[in-house]
Amino acid sequence: MLTGWIGEWLNLLLRWAHLVIGAAWIGASFYFNWLNQHVRPPEGGAVAGLKGELWAVHGGAFYRVHKIDGAPEQLPSTLHWFKYEAYFTWVTGVLLLAATYWANARAYMLDTSSTALSPAAAVGVGVATLVVGWVVYDGLCRTLARRPTALALVGFAATTVLAWGLSQVLSDRAAYIHVGAMLGTCMAANVFFVIIPGQRAMVDAMVKGEAADVARGEAGALRSLHNNYLTFPVLFIMVSNHYPVTWGHPYNWALLAAISLFAIAIRHWQNLRGRGEDQRWLLAVGVLGILATAGVSRWPSAAVSLPAADGGDAVSMVEVQQIVARRCLTCHATRPTFEGLPEAPKGLVLESPEDIRRVAAQIHAQTIATQVMPLGNVTQMTEEERARLGQWLEATLAR
Ligand code: HEC
Repeated sequence: MLTGWIGEWLNLLLRWAHLVIGAAWIGASFYFNWLNQHVRPPEGGAVAGLKGELWAVHGGAFYRVHKIDGAPEQLPSTLHWFKYEAYFTWVTGVLLLAATYWANARAYMLDTSSTALSPAAAVGVGVATLVVGWVVYDGLCRTLARRPTALALVGFAATTVLAWGLSQVLSDRAAYIHVGAMLGTCMAANVFFVIIPGQRAMVDAMVKGEAADVARGEAGALRSLHNNYLTFPVLFIMVSNHYPVTWGHPYNWALLAAISLFAIAIRHWQNLRGRGEDQRWLLAVGVLGILATAGVSRWPSAAVSLPAADGGDAVSMVEVQQIVARRCLTCHATRPTFEGLPEAPKGLVLESPEDIRRVAAQIHAQTIATQVMPLGNVTQMTEEERARLGQWLEATLAR
């Protein structure tokens, strides 16, 4: 594991690269979707060989795009392909996953409910999720190619079962991010193994004046459609990694399924609208559904939370320090004793009363509201301790 500031910088640069390249991939895919939905027959009447055209103004210049019917008479000397965005989004994503999770498996991939696994086994589960996920998905696409709705339902159910299964063996956060990484892997692999080779075969056939292989074209179209619908859920999963209110929830796999479904509804509304069908109810269902999910997500975690702290006997700073020393200082100390941690995570040291007071709100968010700290509860904080700490935090924060 790369430690210290070099490690931090590498991680930051990797994250930045992943974000920028991912934005380029998604931007290009959104743009081509939009383009396809907005090309119209040429204004002056039909033109042989032209399927449609579109005018746009951007950055002080006019652009005129032609959509060709079939293949052009002659291939231009430069033909742009869009693929490297997908490949490098995946490469940077896997490196980031490896640097953040696989290299720190003990701290990031395990929790008390999953201590049956060794850190190496947890990494194995993570890697297998990506590989097996793609193999199974690819197989399903081939067997159910003629039944796209059944395929979508099976895919959704399988992903939800995977999310549940992972949450049983890995830490909640690792389970969540690996579902996202598996879906992202399928998207990039779709481009690499199916869409681009199919497109290449089509270009070759057309240049030779032969008919393109219809089956390959259809397979590519199906994978593109999947990528289109997966964009929203995958982005949600990636971003929510920074929000314990999602993955820290006891039913995080169900939350993930619900949010994905509603995000897909919004995407479906967008797609239909592009075809001239404005089914606004889909948008309403998507937005209200996500809001409802956010609302409902408070409920079970509040229910499993603390035994009522009896207001009578106030919690002292000394008691708080004892709890923090027992349950947090293995990691949040100037010199952590937790194996593999060279320094306090995020530089958060909780050694003195001042340290604790200063970040009381953060501690409340992580330890009481969502209970994601202690990480994976590896230090086995008890309900009683959590209640006492919570009582002190609430009193302190109310002041
Ligand atoms: C096994 C190690 C470990 C233990 C034990 C642990 N933490 Fe953490 N803590 C972490 C790691 C790792 C992070 C960084 C998570 C991330 O990258 O978002 C973190 C992050 C935090 C943060 C968020 C800091 C920020 O800037 O985002 C708070 C607050 C926190 N811990 C409080 C606690 C408290 C309070 C306890 C004890 C009740 C505790 N932690 C126990 C490892 C631990």
